[in-house]
Amino acid sequence: MEILKDRVAIITGAGSGLGRELAKLCAAEGMKLVLADVDEKGLEETRTLLGAAESVLRRTDVTKRDELDALAELTYSSFGKAHLLFNNAGVAASGPVWSSTAAEWEWVMGVNVMGVVHGIQAFVPRMLEQGEPAHVVSTASLAGLTSVPGSGVYCVSKHSVVTLSECLYHDLQIAKADIGVSVLCPAFFKTGIAESERNRPAELSDSNPAGAAYAEFVRAAIEAGKLSAEDVARITLEGVKSERFYILPHNGARKTVQLRMTDILEDRKPTSPMG
Ligand SMILES: NC(=O)c1ccc[n+]([C@@H]2O[C@H](COP(=O)([O-])OP(=O)(O)OC[C@H]3O[C@@H](n4cnc5c(N)ncnc54)[C@H](O)[C@@H]3O)[C@@H](O)[C@H]2O)c1
Repeated sequence: MEILKDRVAIITGAGSGLGRELAKLCAAEGMKLVLADVDEKGLEETRTLLGAAESVLRRTDVTKRDELDALAELTYSSFGKAHLLFNNAGVAASGPVWSSTAAEWEWVMGVNVMGVVHGIQAFVPRMLEQGEPAHVVSTASLAGLTSVPGSGVYCVSKHSVVTLSECLYHDLQIAKADIGVSVLCPAFFKTGIAESERNRPAELSDSNPAGAAYAEFVRAAIEAGKLSAEDVARITLEGVKSERFYILPHNGARKTVQLRMTDILEDRKPTSPMG
């Protein structure tokens, strides 16, 4: 989607990190914005950074289909169209697979996978009917294309987002729809993701008892991230404008993916992407 001006962007997870930077860039492009997050204070803070852009905010828990439907209704009642959907809200959990908890699976899969499914189901049928081009960007991760030690739950969720996006692309091609698809697969960059627990529902708080050491490693890797959230947002919007499907903002990411693919094709044991 080359022209963004006067079009409508919807961003989940817009109260922090990458979602906030996407909102700022979409506003700078002259887009109208629909911003969603469970963090209402974060949403208000994002709005203060948008200059004169028209925006509406709504507290939305992406694990709940009816809340995405309500977000779609707000979008169409406010602006009449939906052009660019960012399924971006996400959370992370750490620790070895054998001690991961049922609560962790429910929480991470609920936000990272079902959140994207709900976004697609709430918006794509309406986009198909609106008679204007649209584009769906879902935030996966490089962890959706590789397998990272101590990140089993997160990797399963992000691999799901990659294949969900690929299937969505195929389905839209068959339907001859004017709706583009991208899947964003960044490596580590500095945001609030290492503090995901801040938004974790109390009833799903049972954490991996062996998660702390891995979480420390992730925190350090995020701090050391070579790109900023603003860099990742800028590369993402460039990807949307040039209709790229796989958006891998970090140099070196392709090598990691190639290593995994070569392990598969040459019948080798998996090489750790962490070296
Ligand atoms: N930061 C990284 O290193 C990195 C790398 C690869 C992928 N990602 C992905 O980027 C996306 C954005 O995360 P970020 O890094 O900006 O982290 P972040 O924590 O700064 O932002 C995530 C946002 O999602 C919101 N959120 C959490 N649960 C929610 C729910 N149930 N419903 C609605 N909103 C919810 C949070 O309130 C927060 O505002 C995520 O999908 C994440 O997995 C991040």
